[in-house]
Amino acid sequence: MHEENRSGPMPGSPPVLALQNIRKSFGDLSVLRDISLAVDQGNVVSVIGPSGSGKSTLLRCATFLESADAGNILYDGQYAMRDGLYGGKKELREFRRRFGLVFQNFNLFPHYSVMKNITEAPVLRGFSRAEAEEKAFSLLKKMGLEGKENAYPCQLSGGQQQRVAIARALAMEPEILFFDEPTSALDPELTGEVLKVIRQLAEENMTMVIVTHEMAFARAVSEWVVFMDGGVIIEEGPPESVLGDPSQERTRQFLRNYQQ
Ligand SMILES: Nc1ncnc2c1ncn2[C@@H]1O[C@H](COP(=O)(O)OP(=O)(O)OP(=O)(O)O)[C@@H](O)[C@H]1O
Ligand SMILES: [Mg+2]
Repeated sequence: MHEENRSGPMPGSPPVLALQNIRKSFGDLSVLRDISLAVDQGNVVSVIGPSGSGKSTLLRCATFLESADAGNILYDGQYAMRDGLYGGKKELREFRRRFGLVFQNFNLFPHYSVMKNITEAPVLRGFSRAEAEEKAFSLLKKMGLEGKENAYPCQLSGGQQQRVAIARALAMEPEILFFDEPTSALDPELTGEVLKVIRQLAEENMTMVIVTHEMAFARAVSEWVVFMDGGVIIEEGPPESVLGDPSQERTRQFLRNYQQ
């Protein structure tokens, strides 16, 4: 743990993200049933749970890739969605600047170089190309990818591609980063290098929500762990309680699958 580095939120400041009473159905299938979650500045929240429990849907609702049916979504205390009603297009565009997203399958633009993948969005948002490239070089260095700026995604390993995807998300200077199973498409040896950079971001107090099946990693980096099943939060708390000493039988049953 790295509490000594944690400045934590300013007293009285609202959480970076608050999800309140979120509900989402696909037809008759109720996927999120009254989910509430707050993420304070500088904290890492890991979301764990079996396949189909609603983890990705929760992230997709928080980032407007899906529209939730009911509830509130607030960033820094400001409503992006209130009582199931989203803000207008322009308003949501402003909210989107606040977060970055990293998916399981990297989702890089295959026909763009690494440099262009990272600088495209900042340049569109009004940064000069020189400024965007300078930032990209420093992010590539941080991700252990110095010298890869002219490579194309197909010339990189999965672990390298995922680190480019993280650099791309960071280039927009988000307040919060969302990860949806960032290592589940990777071989174990490539998983380690990606987890290492996420862990480094945690040490730098980056606010993050991470959906993961990497329990040891979740335990090491998270302030808070949320266990979901069937569209509800079954149990949540500090990693040492949820992962180390869970109170719910359903959580214990789930974690047994991860014990050697
Ligand atoms: N666009 C959609 N249309 C219909 N059903 C959907 C849609 N997206 C997700 N679902 C369903 O919602 C449920 C939750 O899916 P979700 O992808 O959120 O689960 P998950 O916890 O992320 O699972 P995994 O660990 O496998 O990624 C599943 O039953 C899924 O089939
Ligand atoms: Mg998922």
